[in-house]
Amino acid sequence: MGEHRVEVTVNGRSVSAMVEPRLTLADFLRDRLRLTGTHLGCEHGVCGACTVLVDGAAIRSCLAFAVQMQGCAVTTVEGLTPSNGAASDGAASDGAASDGAASDGAASDGAGLSELQAAFRAEHGLQCGFCTPGFIVSATALLANHPDPTVDQIREGLSGNLCRCTGYQGIVRAVQAAARARHAGHGAGAGHGAGAGREADGE
Ligand code: FES
Ligand code: FES
Repeated sequence: MGEHRVEVTVNGRSVSAMVEPRLTLADFLRDRLRLTGTHLGCEHGVCGACTVLVDGAAIRSCLAFAVQMQGCAVTTVEGLTPSNGAASDGAASDGAASDGAASDGAASDGAGLSELQAAFRAEHGLQCGFCTPGFIVSATALLANHPDPTVDQIREGLSGNLCRCTGYQGIVRAVQAAARARHAGHGAGAGHGAGAGREADGE
């Protein structure tokens, strides 16, 4: 099968690569760029573990082809982590990029986590963690559209992501905590106990 060149920005870094048309975006990110924070669960659009941002919109990377990303800006969970720092912007050819810029401009909690990531930790929004990258990416898109989301908006916004461990209560609390932290202008993880802001569902 012939290959096509795709030029895409991944976590702030320019990437130019030859890809087969059948290569999914998820496999491109994981196998070619070694961005393994994007997880693969169902591989047919159900679980949301593979969620990434394409031009700011959350999509399932298992259902998109890498070749479709021509000219797009892709952000993975690695790109949402402040500790990864700004990408040196030289063009990476065929898969050298390993991390990238904190493209959402998220503030850090001082421990290398974004506000959202710190809130997931503080509010017990994860257990095994397999689903977490997808939730972080989906919640990033949610908070971009709804900076002060209601519980219903959080549940609706994250309804495409499945978690088999947490029961979702901690995830909802985490998104609420991150929204509050952004409004307050400080990291959600700093000085917050695990019980901070538990008004999500009367738990
Ligand atoms: S792996 Fe893509 S939705 Fe499950
Ligand atoms: S934390 Fe295990 S699947 Fe969500």
